Amino acid sequence: MNGPRVPMIAIDGPTASGKGTIAARVAARLGWHLLDSGALYRLTALACLERGIAADDAQGAAAAAAALDVRFVADGVSMDGRDVTADIRREEVGNLASQVAALAPVRAALLDRQRAFRCAPGLVADGRDMGTVVFPDADLKIFLVASAEARAQRRYKQLIEKGFSANLLTLLHDLEARDARDTQRVNAPLAVAHDALVLDSSHLTIDQTVEQVMSWWGERSGASRS
Ligand code: CDP
Repeated sequence: MNGPRVPMIAIDGPTASGKGTIAARVAARLGWHLLDSGALYRLTALACLERGIAADDAQGAAAAAAALDVRFVADGVSMDGRDVTADIRREEVGNLASQVAALAPVRAALLDRQRAFRCAPGLVADGRDMGTVVFPDADLKIFLVASAEARAQRRYKQLIEKGFSANLLTLLHDLEARDARDTQRVNAPLAVAHDALVLDSSHLTIDQTVEQVMSWWGERSGASRS
C-alpha cells in the first residue's frame, strides 16, 4: 500500500561541486533524511578492490553492489561491521567508483536501495542521476556546478584537512577525467534534468549556496500549498 507522498529535493552535479556538503546542510535545516548516493558507488568500489573484482567485471561488481552490507550512521558508514568512512573517501576508491558506476548492472543493483531512503518527513539526495533516473518526480531539482579550478581547490583542501596528501594539478586532471566519464557514459550519464535549476557555486560560500537552495524550496513548497 502506498503511503502519503514524501517530498524530496534532488541535488545533482559534477564531482567536487559541493553537492554532499550542501545536501547535508539542507537536510539538517529541513529535518529530513539524507542520501549520499555516491557513497553507495564508493562502497561498491571498495568492495571490488578488497575482493579483487576488476573494474570491467560488470556481473562481479553488480553482485558486490547487491550484497553490500552497509549501515549509515551519524557522519559515517560501516561495511561488514567495520567503519569505512575514511576508506571510501580515498581518491583511488573515488576513481574506481566512477568506473563501476558506468556499468548498467551495478546501477540497477543499487536502484531500490536508493529509493528506500525516501521516508517521511522528506529526503534530500545528492548524486549524478537523482533528478533524472532515481527520483524523476522530485519536488525540486538542483544542478550544482562550479568551475573545474574551484572544484580542484575544494577537493585539495578537503583531502589535506583529512590528513591525506594531495597534488592540485593531479587532482584537476583526475577531476576532468571523472567529468568526462560521468557525462559520456551510456548509462545514466550526468546531465541536467529538463526541470532542474542550475546553481553555479564557483563564487558562492557554502552558506550562500544553502540559502539559495532553501529559498528555491520555500518558493516551490509555498506554491504547491497555495
Ligand atoms: O566526491 P565525488 O562527487 O567525486 O563522488 P561521489 O558523489 O562520492 O560519487 C563517486 C562516483 O560515483 C562518481 O564519480 C560518479 O561516477 C558515481 N556516481 C554515480 O554514477 N551516480 C550517482 N548518483 C552518484 C555517484
